[in-house]
Amino acid sequence: MEGEAIPRARRGNPALLLRLATSRGLPGPPRLQLLLLPPLLLLLLCGPVWGELRAPPEKIAIIGAGIGGTSASYYLRQKFGKDVMIDVFERGKVGGRLATLKVEGHEYESGGSVIHPLNLHMKRFVKELDLSAVQGTGGLLGIYNGETLVFEESNWFVINMLKLLWHYGFQFLRMHMWVEDILDKFMRIYRYQSHDYCFSSVEGLLHALGGNEFSGMLNRTILEALQKAGFSEKFLNEIITAAMRVNYGQSTGVNSFVGAVSLACADSGQWAVEGGNKRVCEGLLQSSKARLIPGSVIQIEEKARTKQIGGSMKNYEVTYKTESGINKDLYDIVIVAAPLNRKMSNITFLKFDPPIPEFHQYYQHLVTTFVHGRLNASYFGYKATDSMYLTDILTTNNPNLFINSISVVSPVKEDASLQSKPVTDFAVWKIFSQEFLSKEQLNLLFVSHDSVQEKEWFAYPYYEPPEKCPPIILHDHMYYLNSIEWAASAMEMSAISAHNAALLAYHRWNGNTEMIDQEGLYEKLKTEL
Ligand SMILES: Cc1cc2nc3c(=O)[nH]c(=O)nc-3n(C[C@H](O)[C@H](O)[C@H](O)COP(=O)(O)OP(=O)(O)OC[C@H]3O[C@@H](n4cnc5c(N)ncnc54)[C@H](O)[C@@H]3O)c2cc1C
Ligand SMILES: *[C@@H]1O[C@H](CO)[C@@H](O)[C@H](O)[C@H]1NC(C)=O
Ligand SMILES: *[C@@H]1O[C@H](CO)[C@@H](O)[C@H](O)[C@H]1NC(C)=O
Ligand SMILES: *[C@@H]1O[C@H](CO)[C@@H](O)[C@H](O)[C@H]1NC(C)=O
Repeated sequence: MEGEAIPRARRGNPALLLRLATSRGLPGPPRLQLLLLPPLLLLLLCGPVWGELRAPPEKIAIIGAGIGGTSASYYLRQKFGKDVMIDVFERGKVGGRLATLKVEGHEYESGGSVIHPLNLHMKRFVKELDLSAVQGTGGLLGIYNGETLVFEESNWFVINMLKLLWHYGFQFLRMHMWVEDILDKFMRIYRYQSHDYCFSSVEGLLHALGGNEFSGMLNRTILEALQKAGFSEKFLNEIITAAMRVNYGQSTGVNSFVGAVSLACADSGQWAVEGGNKRVCEGLLQSSKARLIPGSVIQIEEKARTKQIGGSMKNYEVTYKTESGINKDLYDIVIVAAPLNRKMSNITFLKFDPPIPEFHQYYQHLVTTFVHGRLNASYFGYKATDSMYLTDILTTNNPNLFINSISVVSPVKEDASLQSKPVTDFAVWKIFSQEFLSKEQLNLLFVSHDSVQEKEWFAYPYYEPPEKCPPIILHDHMYYLNSIEWAASAMEMSAISAHNAALLAYHRWNGNTEMIDQEGLYEKLKTEL
């Protein structure tokens, strides 16, 4: 059954079918007036008379070179053309939460790892950057409740089907349909964006996809939503809980939108980028001809500046710290592409009126541990003499459990020498846990092991609906990408938010209010076809 209905120990998220069309041009002045004016006069009048034809921005700052910041750079270049200067500030590595770690001489994804087949922005990037996709290989899945395996996949399709029916009836199928319905609506975003429409808030964006029912998903937990839809306690406690734990390190108290994103990982066809997902970020940065500034932004201040032609013009002074000390630079547009809080980006906003509020948003602490070793089957309730063939073990809620999941992983590059190695039970396992694992805990999990590599994350928001997403527009021409993470955190969500912010920045710069927060878009675009 190839993971058709079972959550895999990896994740992706919804997306859709449309190709992104090219952007619209500037809306011109009314035709009639055009005809009446002599060309020279028209030329002279253009700028000052029609606000829409305002001079383009000279400099744009992007803070953060994760998938959000680098895809913003790509879409901003597309919208504003070749002349604008784009600076991308990054204090760590390009890729951010997309990163790899070396284990036994091979690189493995240590952050965001799998991509849903309908994540169209990611798909487009990989194609345009001439990268390749690698398909996830399906293994055998088990669900462990801290004492015993409550579900165990076998090599036999028919047996798996019977097991599923025996344990859960037709709930797997119903879950699949429930997710599919949300995915269908979610995919409308690609059509809206290909027609250049954008939204000034995350709630507004969700509302445009599926009305109150959709934006209301942020007000309910996935538990409430699925209970209301009639799923059984057993199904919720085992399957749904396991999926939330492996994908978001939390339980069924997360909002039902991110819950649905998490369940979409059960779809088949999950993929990753050959050589590492972070290569997309590196490629986007390069193809957008942005300048990478290695350094940490510490402060942004609003400044009034007098332009050569006509009036005063607000812009932003960005203060940043590099190896060579503290520097400052002025920008017309600023895109914040990192989670805004003291613990993470730690950026101070100075002299804004009204002030930019402090976001006390809590991110889930998570540790990824890679272990090269042989699993201790008896820890998972097997007899010492039995062999275990499971490659993905998810867990349910149990206070005694110190892991969220454990899975066999493959390196980011296909390696012939690994493939031809004789099959032994020594493998590279990836473990997600809330805290660092102790020596004792590793000795429980493994009969024997050699190398251990760890990576600590503030991985994704700690979801606690009702969710109120932070604003996208922080100030006139300053935008915040990561507010979308409070609906759901995933690579594709950051890319969607980046495209939205690039469109929003462009339309607000040029006064194209009709392209922002349009009502009834779905109906409107349906008839336009
Ligand atoms: C362990 C783990 C597993 C995941 N699995 C998946 C998955 O399978 N599929 C999926 O789709 N998603 C997954 N995710 C989520 C996904 O990785 C994120 O949603 C996405 O990468 C976020 O990208 P971003 O660009 O918005 O933020 P980030 O990647 O966090 O980028 C922000 C960047 O800004 C930089 N920065 C911060 N502050 C400053 C400053 N003051 N000055 C300069 N630079 C600054 C940071 O160094 C960072 O590089 C996972 C995440 C984790 C941690
Ligand atoms: C969600 O809850 C908030 C209050 O927390 C409310 O303002 C909003 O209207 C609700 N949204 C929907 C779609 O029900
Ligand atoms: C945030 O930055 C300020 C300096 O700009 C520093 O004094 C403070 O310790 C930082 N806070 C954290 C949590 O890193
Ligand atoms: C394996 O797991 C069992 C059961 O939890 C435990 O008693 C044992 O100490 C573990 N380690 C080894 C090496 O068997």
